[in-house]
Amino acid sequence: MLSWFRKQGRGKAPSSVEAIQLRARDCHSHVLPGVDDGSRTLDESLDMLRLLQDEGVHRVIATSHIYPGRFPNERETLQPVFDTLVESASAAGLTIELELGAEHYLDDSLGPRVESGQHIEFGPERYVLFETHTFDQVPTSLFTTVATMRDRGLTPLMAHVERYQYLSGAEGWEVIEDLRAIGVKFQVNRTIGKINVPGEGRRGRMLEKLARAGYIDEVGSDLHRATPEGRPYAMPNGK
Ligand SMILES: [Fe+2]
Repeated sequence: MLSWFRKQGRGKAPSSVEAIQLRARDCHSHVLPGVDDGSRTLDESLDMLRLLQDEGVHRVIATSHIYPGRFPNERETLQPVFDTLVESASAAGLTIELELGAEHYLDDSLGPRVESGQHIEFGPERYVLFETHTFDQVPTSLFTTVATMRDRGLTPLMAHVERYQYLSGAEGWEVIEDLRAIGVKFQVNRTIGKINVPGEGRRGRMLEKLARAGYIDEVGSDLHRATPEGRPYAMPNGK
């Protein structure tokens, strides 16, 4: 695994042919057991942490889904699971550090959630990681919600930016520029095998454009399973 992991300087945009590599901090993972479509057991979580540690990750943010109607998590449900995983990882001799975050689904409830302080932020950046639907219409509450985050001193971090149809093409790029202009940061998923290869396919072309523009702020594993690809067999919404 170490053979393909190479630490890369922050802010350094890879060329069109370079893979997107994990960095020392993995900002997107589903390592908490039994709370979403990620890890299913504590043992599986420990295997996932071991995998990331062996790949050179020093700190992993546990970003379980908070997705109304699908994964109705709250800080109160995630914190005890997180605390147990931290204790178990230490007992297992793992040195990788853990921090609690969340992957918020953006719908009309996210703005009020942030206003009432019910979101989960992480890092010195006060990141709020959020995902949206993947279709070709810009989500109606996208700009108002990120404005609410900015008003509260938070940093909106858009998850796997390469994935959204409404950001592809020339019109989509204008949306990207508008989001940058109001302080949105971008997280992309790493290249792994034939997945997310810059320049290849719609997602790969988006990764290449983002890299060339210097718009890749964070890289995530989006790890769901204790395998290098890390995906569950069936993803919600065909993801
Ligand atoms: Fe995710």
